[in-house]
Amino acid sequence: MSDDTILRPFSWSDVPAITRIYRHYVEHTAITFDTEAPDEAGIAEKYAGLMKLGHPVIIAEREGRTIGYAYASFYRPRAAYRFTCEDSIYLDPAEKGRGVGTRLLTALLEQSRAHGFKQMLAVITADTANSIAIHEKFGFERVGYYRSVGLKFDRWHDIVHLQKAL
Ligand SMILES: CC(C)(COP(=O)(O)OP(=O)(O)OC[C@H]1O[C@@H](n2cnc3c(N)ncnc32)[C@H](O)[C@@H]1OP(=O)(O)O)[C@@H](O)C(=O)NCCC(=O)NCCS
Repeated sequence: MSDDTILRPFSWSDVPAITRIYRHYVEHTAITFDTEAPDEAGIAEKYAGLMKLGHPVIIAEREGRTIGYAYASFYRPRAAYRFTCEDSIYLDPAEKGRGVGTRLLTALLEQSRAHGFKQMLAVITADTANSIAIHEKFGFERVGYYRSVGLKFDRWHDIVHLQKAL
């Protein structure tokens, strides 16, 4: 990764880039099980929720351009799950495989720990090799496998759960 990539907290000016990056994965992949991409208002509402809860949201920026983001959100909404988070990391597709995800996940683990989360879950579409690989690199263990739980692009998709104690 070039040295001029910086990590910083989310700002509202990131909403258009986040919307664009996420739309790519919604429309072209089964990495996310969303089938309709949220517009900027939908993304702003989601991030307002994360901000209100004080959950970690980290932006990767290069030369003034938002090139990726990571956040930790509740794994499930019910109260007893409140110490368990799920991570999400999405890079501009042109930025994959250059170490930005590694930097984002390093920072996200630190900030999630500082926030008070105790466990992090990664919920990954089973054929997404690089996403599984990056989590295993950080010591996440495979703890669950669910068959045919998502239907997208006329195909049933499996998911794998990986977990790391924080
Ligand atoms: C998954 C993602 C976050 C990884 O970030 P990245 O910057 O591409 O990954 P890095 O360059 O930091 O590489 C991290 C590790 O992933 C693995 N990896 C990277 N590219 C890979 C590839 N093409 N195939 C298999 N493994 C790969 C390697 O283990 C690598 O570690 P190493 O370089 O020390 O061997 C990023 O590719 C991405 O945004 N993908 C699309 C969205 C997504 O799948 N998000 C995760 C769902 S929450």
